[in-house]
Amino acid sequence: MSGPQKRKSRGASGSGARALGVRVKTAKGRKVSSTRWLERQLNDPYVQAAKREGYRSRAAYKLLAIDEKHDLLKRGDVVVDLGAAPGGWSQVAVRKVADEGMVVALDLQEIEPIPGVTTLQADFMEDEGLARLRVELGDRKADIVLSDMAAPATGHKQTDHLRIMALCEAALDFAEEILAPEGRFLAKVLQGGTERDLLDRLRRNFRSVRHVKPEASRSDSAELYVLATGYRGGS
Ligand SMILES: C[S@@+](CC[C@H](N)C(=O)[O-])C[C@H]1O[C@@H](n2cnc3c(N)ncnc32)[C@H](O)[C@@H]1O
Repeated sequence: MSGPQKRKSRGASGSGARALGVRVKTAKGRKVSSTRWLERQLNDPYVQAAKREGYRSRAAYKLLAIDEKHDLLKRGDVVVDLGAAPGGWSQVAVRKVADEGMVVALDLQEIEPIPGVTTLQADFMEDEGLARLRVELGDRKADIVLSDMAAPATGHKQTDHLRIMALCEAALDFAEEILAPEGRFLAKVLQGGTERDLLDRLRRNFRSVRHVKPEASRSDSAELYVLATGYRGGS
């Protein structure tokens, strides 16, 4: 088990760690919302665990938990990690697939190099980003497409929902192009639902489709992941 969960089994739960209770005073010029964000970061057990265990983001614990429960990443897998910066998921993936595998990570932001991971800075929604991914994969098919892509939240629920669904749909288009038979797809969506069309499409093309919300995904966030396994195409 990883990070905070390991501590949990020794009796100090995630919320227990939160009880450390670092309080941040509102500095002049800093908005109350920024102060609250900072306070939450400082008291977040996953942020603390990521620092301690060398992960670049608390997001790493989401993938670790999903992998632990659903046996997602396997030695030798070819993995495409979309929306990968700063690189927590790629760090988890490259450890699991080991030297026999391959991880290609793409983000709008620069990703500091990670040994064993090919990093690309590009917009996935542009042809150039897709073309660069295809070049890196060559004639290899992917075993798994991960997408943690999220556009910065606008605060407008419907706009945020539409934007994240557009990213998820684009990730699925690409997955259907490059996945090997029995391939897997994991993508961030928002609660309130993966749209019916998208779900129908996933159910048609994969043997199993479910929603997952790992413990590290904040309970007050609408974030959710859709996990599809057993790709029926790809041959
Ligand atoms: C939640 S973060 C990903 C965290 C990452 N999984 C990790 O473990 O460190 C979401 C990322 O999606 C990226 N993103 C959003 N839209 C994108 C796009 N069109 N193309 C590529 N990356 C995108 C953002 O730049 C951001 O870095």
